[in-house]
Amino acid sequence: MAPTALVDLAQHHKVVAEAPSNGLHLSNSHHTTVTPKEDAPSRNLKRTEFLLDRNLHKSFPLVKSACGNYINLVDGRTVFDATSGAAVSCIGHGDKRVIKAMYSVLNTGIPYLATTFWACEVVEELCKELIAGTDGKMARVYLTGSGSEAMEAAIKLARQVFYEKDPATRRVNFIAREGSYHGNTIGALGMSGHPVRRAPYEPFLMDNVHHVTACNPYRQRTDGESDTSFVARKAAELEAKFQELGPETVVAFVAEPVVGAALGCVPSVPGYLKAMRDVCHKHGALFILDEVMSGMGRCGTLHAWQDEDVVPDLQTIGKGMGGGYQPVAAVLISSRVVNILLNGSGQFIHGQTYQGMPVQAAAALEVQRIVREEGLVDNVKRQGLYLEKCLRSRLAGHPNVGDIRGRGLFWGLEFVKNKITKEPFDARLGVAQRILEAAISAPFNMTMYPGTGCADGFRGDHVILAPAYNVTKEDIEHIARVASDVVHLVFRKLVNL
Ligand SMILES: Cc1ncc(COP(=O)(O)O)c(C=O)c1O
Repeated sequence: MAPTALVDLAQHHKVVAEAPSNGLHLSNSHHTTVTPKEDAPSRNLKRTEFLLDRNLHKSFPLVKSACGNYINLVDGRTVFDATSGAAVSCIGHGDKRVIKAMYSVLNTGIPYLATTFWACEVVEELCKELIAGTDGKMARVYLTGSGSEAMEAAIKLARQVFYEKDPATRRVNFIAREGSYHGNTIGALGMSGHPVRRAPYEPFLMDNVHHVTACNPYRQRTDGESDTSFVARKAAELEAKFQELGPETVVAFVAEPVVGAALGCVPSVPGYLKAMRDVCHKHGALFILDEVMSGMGRCGTLHAWQDEDVVPDLQTIGKGMGGGYQPVAAVLISSRVVNILLNGSGQFIHGQTYQGMPVQAAAALEVQRIVREEGLVDNVKRQGLYLEKCLRSRLAGHPNVGDIRGRGLFWGLEFVKNKITKEPFDARLGVAQRILEAAISAPFNMTMYPGTGCADGFRGDHVILAPAYNVTKEDIEHIARVASDVVHLVFRKLVNL
């Protein structure tokens, strides 16, 4: 489909933007720089009294509504959502088709159904759609309400696979990676190689999770090292970890194919996933991919593993699966694993109250149909290449932009104090947070998703750009221009501190 036709279709589903209040003018390009009214800052910022916010000292902009890629604030400003929230709103906000699908389920009186008693058509339809998206390479879907819950389910299911065959199995160890994030519940956090988020809970995180290094060429590749040698080094490290633990004690290896929040959009080096899978399978362990952030089209293929056709035994998905219309996530399960259950107890010993709800399924199904019918994954690929080009041309020469990396519409900028030594900034400077604060304020009015710890777990600043899959060329130019302006401004100010 020609890009223009694709974009027209995408526009078709966006609800008409609410007319901006207090005399604000939206320019023709629909990218608008709006000056807030004089009293705006106080009206716009909200420190909540009753909600335990993520940051109790911070005030957050008050949102009124959202539409397409725009978030309308109470102070009248309109902010361009260049991050889809936290890489979630993959078809933008307020899509009429998805809202209608959700309403039709609500009208049946069964937004919730107990999975202990009942089956439901829309849930089955969703699972069929998800399995079709793997070209039949995965066999079943286990539905959850969040990415962390999907990771918990994957951890338990992986263990149960070996328990089914032998209740006295010695397979108790997991191998995950440094510089990773798999969720905030205790099991998922135990998998995560994210020192800052782990620190308060370290004493009771699972001690059967072991970490190998991430696949991060910007910080780890030695001078002149080829992809092949780099991958061989990583495979040797995983092999050594298996040997150290005893290969017969390992349940699974867990990795994000493109690392999201922990490192800022770091794709695996070509050949890496296959090499890691081969080590796992050589020792009879499972190969698990966490695609909660990088999957469901975000990286230019519906599943990130499809880029090199390295099929996992278990895969978690979330975020872009429901596009923010409902809290919904899942584990995709290979036939190898399903068959072990079928030939064993026939049950997965797990379950939660709010899972597989018809209203969740209706939203996710409609989002997935829109992504498929409108060819949005192709648009991700096309616009992603353009975003890379625009970011590189504007920011590659900046003295504090150490690395620009990513895939599809999932791009990270890593900031350094010294480009030659790659020395990160002092964490107390809060560089990534400063970038967000500047970006989200007038005159820039755009989201940029901040992260820290990408250099050594504690130091290292990055931001993520992850717009909706239906962005246009004009949107991409806007994102790159604003990102560049913000970066230049923030570092100019830092120099003068
Ligand atoms: C790769 C990855 N896995 C798991 C999670 C946890 O998902 P959730 O926040 O929906 O629990 C996240 C969230 O950012 C993630 O990026």
